[in-house]
Amino acid sequence: MSLLTIAFFGATGGSVATTLALSLKAGYTCKALVRNPTKLTELLTSSHGTTLQQIESHLTVTKGDVLSRPDVESVVYLEGNKTVDLIISGIGSYPVFKGWNPIPKIENPTLCHDVIHNLISTLKSRGGAGNGPHLVTIGTTGISNLGRDYPLLLTLVYKVLLHEAHRDKGNMENLVATSLRRSGSEGSGPLRAYTIVHASLLTGGNMLGMEKVRSEIEGDKWSRNAIGYTISRRDVGNWIFEDVIRGFGSERKAGRIARITY
Ligand SMILES: NC(=O)c1ccc[n+]([C@@H]2O[C@H](COP(=O)([O-])OP(=O)(O)OC[C@H]3O[C@@H](n4cnc5c(N)ncnc54)[C@H](OP(=O)(O)O)[C@@H]3O)[C@@H](O)[C@H]2O)c1
Repeated sequence: MSLLTIAFFGATGGSVATTLALSLKAGYTCKALVRNPTKLTELLTSSHGTTLQQIESHLTVTKGDVLSRPDVESVVYLEGNKTVDLIISGIGSYPVFKGWNPIPKIENPTLCHDVIHNLISTLKSRGGAGNGPHLVTIGTTGISNLGRDYPLLLTLVYKVLLHEAHRDKGNMENLVATSLRRSGSEGSGPLRAYTIVHASLLTGGNMLGMEKVRSEIEGDKWSRNAIGYTISRRDVGNWIFEDVIRGFGSERKAGRIARITY
């Protein structure tokens, strides 16, 4: 069995819960930082078919706050200064309606950036043995520097309704992109690699499997492949499991942005 160790943030959200459940079933060593451990156990057992034995054997749950440095440290570090191999984050703030405004606002409009900022500063200040972890974080379509990566019909939704959330995701992604460790340069970023997942609009549907998911790794050239309306949270979680976890160690670009949709 692989010795890969994986830390999860946002594991009570539908996407990351799926990745975590698949990882537990496959026997990986998992750690999760959550606000509500009972919610996590119930979700894994009732919605994702994980057994209590799989949870007890392979998962360590820490109750805490993703914005707290000691809580993050306790999850991303193993013994001494060795970090986990992979950190998977699907933290997202919830939309809230305020007053009579029909357009929802984001509960915490800087949460995604602040979580990654806390993680990167923790890794930088404490340092680590080896080359640092591979970070997977769920971003969004609609913020690519290369062009429109969502269907034209969704322009209003993306530009008006999702503007605030997208600004936070954009700030988060800039931070991730500047946090790569450059070989041979001491004091550069703490990440060995990153995968930013640009998912289209998320649904609560079933997992359809990798053959139904279109994906593209963004390159310097713009391509219109893999532009679509939606993808289920379960398929996002499954894509992360199949591509990043199962594909761990394959020769790839250190910094990748993957667009996924149906
Ligand atoms: N909705 C979309 O169409 C869409 C599209 C593209 C990308 N995304 C992004 O995809 C990711 C996964 O989405 P999802 O729907 O699977 O999950 P989700 O339901 O958005 O779950 C969010 C997770 O973040 C945690 N969280 C929220 N606020 C927190 C805080 N202040 N401190 C600590 N944890 C906090 C939640 O924990 P609790 O359970 O404790 O609340 C939960 O585990 C998110 O980053 C989302 O922004 C969403």
